[in-house]
Parts: sequence; structure tokens; C-alpha cells
Amino acid sequence: MKILHEVCLRSGHDGSSREMIQACLVLLGVLPENIIAEEGRAGRKMSVFFPLVASARRLARSLRALKLKGVAISIRMHRQVDWETRWKKGWKPFMLTPRIYVIPLFLSEAQCPSGKTPLYLETTSAFGTGLHETTRFSAGLIEGLTDTFKSFLDIGTGTGILSIVAFRSGARYVEAFDIDAGAVKAARVNLKANSLRCDVLKAGDVGEYGLQRTFDLVAANLITHDLVAFRQKIVASVAPGGHLIISGIALKNMPLVKKAYGLSAGLECVKIIKGKEWCAFLFRRSLTSGRDDGSL
Ligand SMILES: C[S@@+](CC[C@H](N)C(=O)[O-])C[C@H]1O[C@@H](n2cnc3c(N)ncnc32)[C@H](O)[C@@H]1O
Repeated sequence: MKILHEVCLRSGHDGSSREMIQACLVLLGVLPENIIAEEGRAGRKMSVFFPLVASARRLARSLRALKLKGVAISIRMHRQVDWETRWKKGWKPFMLTPRIYVIPLFLSEAQCPSGKTPLYLETTSAFGTGLHETTRFSAGLIEGLTDTFKSFLDIGTGTGILSIVAFRSGARYVEAFDIDAGAVKAARVNLKANSLRCDVLKAGDVGEYGLQRTFDLVAANLITHDLVAFRQKIVASVAPGGHLIISGIALKNMPLVKKAYGLSAGLECVKIIKGKEWCAFLFRRSLTSGRDDGSL
């Protein structure tokens, strides 16, 4: 039986902020998508899971050395069977957008409310369950553009959730990639579970990905660093007259992203969605956008 080791960080609302804890975890080499956060009335809990106890101990040791204010760090062991039942226990189908109802695959018998579109999702192995603000904002923006786009590019597809929303919103050509080959596998399973297939679905890093065409709609739910570092490439993937959604931006990074994307000639900010901790931007690329030589 497989064992997982959970590094668990518990804090009250007066302790170090979620942002601060998250930033420390990322600095210590944890991928943002591997951080599981839960907020309760009494406080917050953030967890990172490892198959090896040595890796969990190493992270716990480094975190303790940071002396984060009001944060208790512990390691808990889970047999995989516990873990499986644990994550399933909290899951219920839910409305992702006004039209789309997410049904986890293990609950695939669940009834979809009438007039709504089901989206079946295997939720264990990649980022993109639809519960995170950054995904919800992107999905809502895609649905809001229903039938205004035919081609869609999904940068950092995760579970493939945004590609599925794009198909359900009228896309005919969908290309998706993710730096994590495991996510690509999960996306393939999810697309199939929804009787869909991307035209291109493969592993790739946004910094190196070879784009063969431009797209009516592009979505990139990535960390701010990548959104800024690869801005010119991301913007260049949008067809003139097309739209760009960028998400994954912590509120404190909003001015930086706004400034960076403001350098792209012919890119008009159409909408900003702000949540409790995250925000997302919708841009439109003008029909006659010029060269983008801006740098920060
Ligand atoms: C926040 S998740 C978004 C997943 C999904 N698109 C959503 O909106 O829920 C970011 C995804 O981007 C992938 N990713 C991170 N850095 C990347 C990069 N440089 N190039 C391509 N994909 C990347 C991660 O593996 C992860 O699956």
C-alpha cells in the first residue's frame, strides 16, 4: 500500500498571511499547484504531499527555520486508501459557470440540473478542479465569449478544464499544452470523459513552445513570473481581433501585470475580475496591432 506524507501548516487568521506562506513554499521549491489550501473559520491549513518521508522532513525543517509567525508545522502520514477517501469526502458536483456543472468522475452517476451542461472531471492528478478562483475566473470569461471564437489555445492546461469549457462555448479547434506530462495525461482522460479531443495536446514549456498559428482566444492561468516573462510570446499567440485571458495573479501582483501587459501595443484591457486573493484580466488584441517591443 502506498504511503503519503503530508507537511501540514496550520495558522490562525492573525498569523502569517496565506500569500506569505505560499511564497515561502514556492521559494523552497514547491510548485504552486502542489499546495493544497483550506480556509476555515478558525484559521487556514496548507498542505504539501510527498511519497518520501525524507522529502517531507526536509521541507518541514526548512519551513521551521523560517520561523513563520503563528504557523504550526507538522508531518502526518496517510495510507493512500485514507487519502483517496479523504479527498472524495469533500467533493460534490458544483456550478463552475452559469452554464457548466462540474461532476467528478467518481460521481459520474450524479444528475446534472436541467438546462445545465455537465463537465466530467478526474480531479486527483493535476491542477484545475474548478474550485480555485483562478480557474473559475478563466472559465467564466471563456463562457462570456461564447460563439465569438473558433480557435482556442490553453497554456498550462492542467486537468484540461478550460479546453473543455472552450469546446462547450463554441470552439472548433483547440490546442493545449502543459509543462507537466502528468497533467497532459490527466487532460487527455478528462477530454475523453467529455467525448472531446484536442487538436493538439502535448507537454511543453511556454518559454519554448513552438506556435504554428494564432488563436481567436488564448487562456494562460500561470504564475505571475511566467505571465510577465513570456508576455510577448503569449500576446503574439492571439490573432488580431482575438481575446486573451490571463489568470493566476495574486492581487498584490495586479499592478505589475497591468504595467507589463500595458506595454503590448494594440492590447486593450476589457475586463478585470478581482476575487478575495486573485485576479484575472481579459484583453482584446486590436485588428491592427503593431510590433511589441516593450520590455520591463
Ligand atoms: C494554475 S494551473 C492552471 C490549470 C488550468 N488551466 C486551470 O485554469 O485550472 C497552471 C498549470 O500550468 C502548468 N505550467 C506551469 N508552468 C508552465 C510553463 N512554463 N509552461 C507550460 N505550462 C506550465 C502547470 O503544470 C499547471 O498545470
